[in-house]
Amino acid sequence: MKRVHNFAAGPAALPLEVLLKAQAELPDFNGIGMSVMEISHRSKDFKEVAEGAESLLRDLMGIPDNYRVLFLQGGASLQFDMIPMNLMSRTKRAYYINSGNFAKKAAKEARLFGEVIEPASSEDCNYSHLPLISDDMFSEDADYLHFTYNNTIYGTEFRGIPVKTDLPVVSDMTSCILSEPVDVSGYGLIYAGAQKNIAPAGLTVVIVRDDLIGLNPSLPSMLDYAVHAKNDSMYNTPTTFAIYMAKLVFEWLKEQGGVEGIHRINLEKADMLYSYIDSSSLFHGIVDNKADRSIMSVTFTTGDKDLDERFSKEAEENGLTNLKGHRIAGGMRASIYNAVTLEDCKALVDFMKEFERKN
Ligand SMILES: Cc1ncc(COP(=O)(O)O)c(C=O)c1O
Repeated sequence: MKRVHNFAAGPAALPLEVLLKAQAELPDFNGIGMSVMEISHRSKDFKEVAEGAESLLRDLMGIPDNYRVLFLQGGASLQFDMIPMNLMSRTKRAYYINSGNFAKKAAKEARLFGEVIEPASSEDCNYSHLPLISDDMFSEDADYLHFTYNNTIYGTEFRGIPVKTDLPVVSDMTSCILSEPVDVSGYGLIYAGAQKNIAPAGLTVVIVRDDLIGLNPSLPSMLDYAVHAKNDSMYNTPTTFAIYMAKLVFEWLKEQGGVEGIHRINLEKADMLYSYIDSSSLFHGIVDNKADRSIMSVTFTTGDKDLDERFSKEAEENGLTNLKGHRIAGGMRASIYNAVTLEDCKALVDFMKEFERKN
């Protein structure tokens, strides 16, 4: 078996232990003579999977009882629409912090349903740091405040809710969910496409406070949180295999010491990479404010487009894959999600050192 060091931004690396468990269970799940992909989502065996996945996630994130966990489809991008459709109910106005490409896309969709106020933006510097935010930017009454926790493309990351506010806070945690402890009770809604830290692509996790469900009575069923909550995410056929994989990943996470345990490892991984980048005379970090650096998405460059190209190409040839930066940001990006190991990061630093020596 050949396995490379996979730094893909998403769909991304899954823990090898999880892949092997899924492989072993694939033809005959639970002794029923069928795979988990071949059974009804309403069967007893699958119900145990879905309930198990939810209960593990609740435990891992400390999700309070007054929140619902929904397993949906349509990616984080569908949430860019579902959030304003469901939550813009009273003032029909919401704050959107513009900290990156996905934050901007979320705001664009929200404008279809109401007024969007952009209190702060770092677009003018190509999102090379987080926008400066102060509490007085949020004085108007609004239905919620939206921010993208980890800016996957640029490599910046908030350290918790960036403002003191009584507004419901909505956060896109697609590229950082379960990577560090989060106090769920501070949020109105948390959402994440699963394809980075949870499962294969296809599943979207939404964690939503009870009082934010059912605010808009005239939504199409599939776009209504109330319908999904009432039907325990089984209003239609859910993405059963991805939910099964999520359960295996949650079990694996518990074995790593839960979110606190994986967070310690994530800090060590990020520190290893950033320390080397900061000491290097060839590479430098793309994020210009070190305090804003992400522990999941490490962006860097040599400053020379051709050399960057060569780096990604040679890395690929040496079993270090998917290091080319996003097409709109350039440079390189190492996505070091939970399943990327310390050994993977060590291999990357060793390769960077060797590349620096040669160039
Ligand atoms: C922060 C963030 N939000 C949203 C998305 C879009 O997710 P999806 O492709 O699941 O719609 C991504 C994808 O990379 C992301 O990183």
